[in-house]
Amino acid sequence: MSFHELIPVVNKLQDIVTTTQLAELDLPILAVVGSQSCGKSSVLENIVGKDFLPRGTGIVTRRPLVLQLIHVKPDDPLIYTIPRVVSNYPSDFSSPSSSNDEDGEINLEEHLRKHVHAANGGKVNPPNEWGEFLHISGKRFYNFNDIRKEIETETLRIAGTNKGISRLPINLKIYSPNVLDLTLVDLPGLTKIPIGDQPTDIERQTRNLILEYISKPNCIILAVSPANVDLVNSESLKLARQVDPTGKRTVGILTKLDLMDQGTNALDILKGNVYPLKLGFIGIVNRSQQDISENKSLTDSLYDEQEFFSNHQAYKSMSNRCGTKFLSQTLNKILMNHIRERLPDIKAKLNTLMGQTEQELLSYGEIPSNLTNSKESRGALVLTLMTKFASAFMTSIEGTSVN
Ligand code: GDP
Ligand code: NA
Ligand code: MG
Repeated sequence: MSFHELIPVVNKLQDIVTTTQLAELDLPILAVVGSQSCGKSSVLENIVGKDFLPRGTGIVTRRPLVLQLIHVKPDDPLIYTIPRVVSNYPSDFSSPSSSNDEDGEINLEEHLRKHVHAANGGKVNPPNEWGEFLHISGKRFYNFNDIRKEIETETLRIAGTNKGISRLPINLKIYSPNVLDLTLVDLPGLTKIPIGDQPTDIERQTRNLILEYISKPNCIILAVSPANVDLVNSESLKLARQVDPTGKRTVGILTKLDLMDQGTNALDILKGNVYPLKLGFIGIVNRSQQDISENKSLTDSLYDEQEFFSNHQAYKSMSNRCGTKFLSQTLNKILMNHIRERLPDIKAKLNTLMGQTEQELLSYGEIPSNLTNSKESRGALVLTLMTKFASAFMTSIEGTSVN
């Protein structure tokens, strides 16, 4: 079994871990760290390839956002499952007229039945990219602007209206044929001076919140530093060094290369001659605030980024190792190696877990008949499901080249 095939299995395992709170399985995640407005949310958005995160000057990200990207194949049956609710109709889909419920939401099933059946000779092509939040599960967001609005609303609901931050995460899954399988965390930025109703110890609180995520040995730290500020002042590298002193799970990301002073460049940093990180530094050019205000598309931005590197006197010789695309490829490679290293450990923990569950179920003895009207008691069902899952997981592990 190839690692590409393994990743969905690991995502599934992560789901089980989240719902059963078996945090000790500790699957790898990627977290972005850096000072406020250094470009963390922009970098994440570029990796996902979709406009959906609140970005901007000032403190915008005020709760951790745990973002699970799930690759679906274009013909994945999941695409054809009918969601309970959809947030908004995608623009390339025929517009529904009579199936809005009172919240202005659309019942897709109803709509498909009423409007689509005949048009395509009975064949329906629903959109294949959507987001789902844990706090409103079962609702598909096909419109990524609505995802951004929901993140903003949820941020306000928990973290208040006046610059406060909250450690309670927002959980979002994005299903798409255009993403790599990754779990990413967007975190509030490090600030020194409290503003609005931020507590006086905001710096310490933010630091602790970030440390909570990045101190886990299985966290890959995306340490973002803006290229227009001296690297010795980089908050992200200081924090990353605290938890990863040898720099073996920290990727340096240098944003705002377009904003460096004329006549200066970051070539020495990108070549690894300034700060030692085993995984290296990758240069990035995100959209500027003006680009955001003018609604510059992500596609244009990625194109311009590539142009920037291949035309730049200093960077053109290494332009294939710069930019968002190279970052995504690097991250996937790192993630796979990471999973490979963790497999024996995960396998051992899963075995223990299986043993414990079996013991626990045995200790219940006969299941009282009033709990079930068939042979399939709940406990037996759980065990069956877990066993099935675990053996599938084991098989996938055996199939890899891990010794
Ligand atoms: P965060 O606070 O670290 O999440 O940063 P954001 O992604 O919200 O970006 C903060 C501001 O910096 C926004 O106005 C972005 O447009 C701008 N920005 C981020 N990265 C770059 C970059 O590479 N170049 C330029 N010119 N602006 C950037
Ligand atoms: Na910001
Ligand atoms: Mg942000």
